[in-house]
Amino acid sequence: MSAKFKFIHHACFTVTKNNETLICDPFLDGNPEGVTYKDLKVNYIFISHAHGDHLGDAFALAKQCDALIITTAEIAYKAEAEGCKAHPMHLGGTYTFPFGKVRVTPAFHGSGIEGGHACGFVIDFYGTKFYFAGDTSIYGDMSMLQELDPFTYAIIPIGGNFTMDPNDAALAAKMLKAKYVIPIHYNTWPIIAQDPIPFKEKVEATTSSKCILVNPGDTLDWE
Ligand code: NI
Ligand code: MN
Repeated sequence: MSAKFKFIHHACFTVTKNNETLICDPFLDGNPEGVTYKDLKVNYIFISHAHGDHLGDAFALAKQCDALIITTAEIAYKAEAEGCKAHPMHLGGTYTFPFGKVRVTPAFHGSGIEGGHACGFVIDFYGTKFYFAGDTSIYGDMSMLQELDPFTYAIIPIGGNFTMDPNDAALAAKMLKAKYVIPIHYNTWPIIAQDPIPFKEKVEATTSSKCILVNPGDTLDWE
C-alpha cells in the first residue's frame, strides 16, 4: 500500500498510510487552502523546532486529536505542560514506534526554545521512509544519513536567508542520495522567495535523484 503525501504549505505536510496520519511542523497561518487545525485529524505530530512557522498550531491540534507529539526534549516537556501527549527524543536518538523507526537528526538552526536544539527526522512510517530536514544549513554529516537509515524521499528547505538556498540545497541533495527530493520552505514570504526550477535542474543534472516540485494543497502518491 502506498502512502499519501499532502503538502499544506511552507514546511507543513501530512503523510497518511494504514489509516493513520502524521503531520510535520503544523504551521497553518496563511496557507492558501485555508486549512485550519480544526480541519485536520492526525495521529502523530513531528516538530523540528519551536519557531512560530514550525510549532504553529501543534499543541491545539494535539489536544484536539489526542495525537502524540514527537520532538526534542525541551519542546516535548513544554507540550506536556500544556496538556499534550509527547515523546521526547534528541539529536542522534532513535526509537521504534508502532509505525516504525524514527531518527532525530541535527539541524543547524535556532531551536526557538531555551536550552533546545533544532532537528530534523528520518521517519519510517509503515515502511515508507523519508527525511524531513527541518530548518537547517548545509552540513557535511548529511552524507551519513542515508547509510544510517535509508530513505526514499528527502524533504529539504531551499528558501535561503534562514536555511539552505537552492545552490546549497542542491549540494545537500548530492549527499542525501534519496530517490526523490522535494524542496519546501520557500516562497511563503518575499524574504524566502526562490525559483525552484533551477534547483530542480541542478539536482537532476548533478545527482541521480528526481526532484518533485509541490504547490500548497498538492498530494502525491508515494511509493
Ligand atoms: Ni526556523
Ligand atoms: Mn522556518
